Amino acid sequence: MFLFASMKPYKDYPHSSISMQDDSGLKNALKALSKSTIEIIIESGTFNGLGSTTFIMEAFEDAASLEKFYTIELNYRTYKIATNNLAQFPKVQCKFGCSTKLQEAVDFMQNDEAILNHQNYTDIYIDDIHEPVKFYSKELNGFLGVSSIKSMITRIINPKALNPEENIIESIVKNNSSKTFLIVLDSAGGMGYLEFQKVQSLLKHKHHYLMLDDTHHLKHFRSKRDVLASEKYTVLYESIKHGSLLAEYQP
Ligand SMILES: C[S@@+](CC[C@H](N)C(=O)[O-])C[C@H]1O[C@@H](n2cnc3c(N)ncnc32)[C@H](O)[C@@H]1O
Repeated sequence: MFLFASMKPYKDYPHSSISMQDDSGLKNALKALSKSTIEIIIESGTFNGLGSTTFIMEAFEDAASLEKFYTIELNYRTYKIATNNLAQFPKVQCKFGCSTKLQEAVDFMQNDEAILNHQNYTDIYIDDIHEPVKFYSKELNGFLGVSSIKSMITRIINPKALNPEENIIESIVKNNSSKTFLIVLDSAGGMGYLEFQKVQSLLKHKHHYLMLDDTHHLKHFRSKRDVLASEKYTVLYESIKHGSLLAEYQP
């Protein structure tokens, strides 16, 4: 019999359908954090805005220090939907584009040891066990979540969809260098670790907070490993079931 070792397909994760809304421990930890001095939240991976962005804003509803919550979405159609869904939160600003440079993300996915050798990580989940590089490259093109025909029509009707801003996390961090950040990473599975490494390098000398989603997944299993291994991070909350992690970084 042919045995095929691989990461585990994410659709088989027993809690894959569980929403962040059910993670009451995370909501409480965020509420406690909202009383601290966080001034800027940056999130990568808005999707339709009704998941993590709304969840975090609900926890931060009384946060006096919060000035702005930037949330980044690479799929233009989804970005438009999120902009609509999040209009009720004046502090939220949706940004259309890529968290990092696009080419950097493509290069990362095509060369990432964990994607190329995912058969060596049998405890970790991945979205596509057959052609993961192709799958994640498609997500990078902003196609995930809608049929590609719909996305193509959107691109034809609205040329803005062809011009995503790039390297958005770095721009926001540099434009707000004196502020205290909460960084939330929940974008494409294939580039979560790239985003984590970028954030670490951008904020290595700065006190900040970090929230990861999907820590049992290719997206952030290494980010979580690095957080737990570093004395500079203090874990404020973790849920193995939900794959969530909230940590404070002190340089
Ligand atoms: C897992 S979903 C986000 C889920 C969302 N945080 C929630 O709780 O509902 C990932 C989203 O990230 C977007 N995305 C993928 N790569 C991205 C990138 N490089 N920059 C910004 N958004 C990205 C995808 O289009 C998708 O909508």
